[in-house]
Amino acid sequence: MSKVSLEEKIPNNVDLSSDKRLQRALEQWQPGFLDWWCEMGPDGFQSSDVYLRTAISVDSSGWANFAIVKMPEYRWGIYLADPAPGRTVGFGDHLGKPVWNEVPGEYRNPLRRLIVTQGDTEPASVEQQRQLGKTCPSLYDLRNLFQVNVEEGRHLWAMVYLLHTYFGRDGREEAEGLLQRRSGNPDKPRILQAFNEPIEDWLSFMMFTTFTDRDGKYQLLSLAESAFDPLSRTCRFMLTEEAHHMFVGQTGIARIAQRTAEVVRQGKDPRKEGAIPFDVLQRYLSFWYTVSLDLFGSEVSTNGANYFGGGLKGRPKEASYPDHALLEGAVPVELFEDGHVIEREVAPRLAVNLQTRQAYQEDCQGAVDKWNRVVADLGVEFRLPSERFHRGVGTFAGVFFDPQGRKISEQEFRHHERDWLPSDDDEAYVRSLMTHPVIEPGKFASWIAPPARGINAQASDFEYVRFNEA
Ligand SMILES: [Fe+2]
Ligand SMILES: [Fe+2]
Repeated sequence: MSKVSLEEKIPNNVDLSSDKRLQRALEQWQPGFLDWWCEMGPDGFQSSDVYLRTAISVDSSGWANFAIVKMPEYRWGIYLADPAPGRTVGFGDHLGKPVWNEVPGEYRNPLRRLIVTQGDTEPASVEQQRQLGKTCPSLYDLRNLFQVNVEEGRHLWAMVYLLHTYFGRDGREEAEGLLQRRSGNPDKPRILQAFNEPIEDWLSFMMFTTFTDRDGKYQLLSLAESAFDPLSRTCRFMLTEEAHHMFVGQTGIARIAQRTAEVVRQGKDPRKEGAIPFDVLQRYLSFWYTVSLDLFGSEVSTNGANYFGGGLKGRPKEASYPDHALLEGAVPVELFEDGHVIEREVAPRLAVNLQTRQAYQEDCQGAVDKWNRVVADLGVEFRLPSERFHRGVGTFAGVFFDPQGRKISEQEFRHHERDWLPSDDDEAYVRSLMTHPVIEPGKFASWIAPPARGINAQASDFEYVRFNEA
């Protein structure tokens, strides 16, 4: 097992002190990161004491340490999962050959692009969420928000480590760029559109952590297959943390649905009780699910094919697929051409994005199934809309479909839009419930039920966050 250095300026298990140049370069990047965190991290809570877990190793039985910390003093570290002895490339043209510990020259640009794109999402989500603390529904939820935020910060460190270590001057410049771009800023936006959408209410946050962090999971699973072993090992450890982010979203929405269900079972109107009606939940679900589908790229993608062929990015859990070369046969893909949805057979490598997305969609269905169990007795059923609906990327982008996937006119779409996607009224109602923070230990806002248990088995009225004068 790799040695962990916790006392260094940058905690790590990569033996950073043995490479003084690299250590110095990262220590020079660190103040810029802290400036970014203080400027763009959770607004108004930098001096609060927060009950947070910190990664201190990659040992599956005890990698996390829980303690009360101020966020700017969080110990962001660099952790790679231990190397798998004798690991070989699991797919593409280099199938069966030993994995790489350096970047082959021919793959330098695409690998850098993959790492920068992944890295950019991490600080972006912190920026998107920075105002949410002011309207938290409880200390428990506030702590969960901050936990997600600090770990996204650590994921940025993970990608910056790779850029600094393996990509020379270009990598250092990219690492600077990651601190320069800003979510939603028209002059220097974040790279992917879903990470430029503001997250101004907790319903959006919990949908985001359900659907968009789950996209993160599938990107990390695909990159964990990479022939570039440091990237694979980095992503394998990031996945451990990512699971909690999806838990925050998944159980958050389940608790909202549970609260609404309680009100409905009492024969009361959710709006009069300050709960969130089921149809509003459905519209937020439809929005965040479809913008997250866009993150998988086009159904037919030469980039995806090249990443796969080169061994840079595989499919999630590549070993579970029968064929790892994808050079023979054909895959049917639905496409929109000349005004019609058609099915076309394409070379299998061209459909790798689609296969990854389909695995993601199944996982999303599992999340929705859990929500449906909470409301089953009320005859309510949440549904994932068709992958043709409300798309901004891929073959169905810019074409109008209903949530069942039927082609409709723009006029018809506009006529029903308020039934299918969050309207201004929905947003106004949701925000009217979230005008102030609920910060009394053990208390919860009117629109969400308490969790089944506390974080790290803490009591229900545990003081997860304590506020100090700034
Ligand atoms: Fe992340
Ligand atoms: Fe995440």
